[in-house]
Amino acid sequence: MQFSDVESDLTEILLTEEQIHDTIAGLAARIDADYAGKTPLLVGVLRGAVMVMADLARAITIPIEMDWMAVSSYGSSTQSSGVVRILKDLDTDLHGRDVLIVEDIIDSGLTLSWLLQNLRGRGAASVEICALLRKPEAAKVQVDVKYPGVDIPNAFVVGFGLDYAEKYRNLRGIAVLAPHVYS
Ligand code: PRP
Repeated sequence: MQFSDVESDLTEILLTEEQIHDTIAGLAARIDADYAGKTPLLVGVLRGAVMVMADLARAITIPIEMDWMAVSSYGSSTQSSGVVRILKDLDTDLHGRDVLIVEDIIDSGLTLSWLLQNLRGRGAASVEICALLRKPEAAKVQVDVKYPGVDIPNAFVVGFGLDYAEKYRNLRGIAVLAPHVYS
């Protein structure tokens, strides 16, 4: 799906497909260098991280493994509460592993902060975060993101895995959703 396919639903383009590609290439190069000689386990957080994971994993040139978690935050559909429930856990034993959590966006930071603590308690050698987008103005807790992509304004954004009511995940770029769609 292109921006033009849903033009009237969007107010501003934040990242084009090319800009996302370049951002992910930069993150992959850093990961390649930092994990040389290791086989990190990339942990994707369903469902939003699917696109980032697919592109990041292919841009990385060292061996990696992939696993997935699904979590759900108790709270309203638009605001996470920090209390997280695991809907699908990892299949991989983390003992001694170098874990890299892959996320599409850090909003309040509550999900990641919980996840970081949870995975660190499983005996991993290291746990770091790679997140394509960050909303600094929305942060409720500070999360140490070793591989941040782009900082964006505190707006309702969709595309490249990010949804509104499960739609727009297949939009190739990332854009601000027009208020008339969700109000
Ligand atoms: C999004 C995103 C993060 C979380 C970030 O997931 O993928 O997991 O919200 O928000 P926070 O920093 O405020 O905790 P969402 O719950 O929308 O589920 P989805 O990935 O299935 O779209």
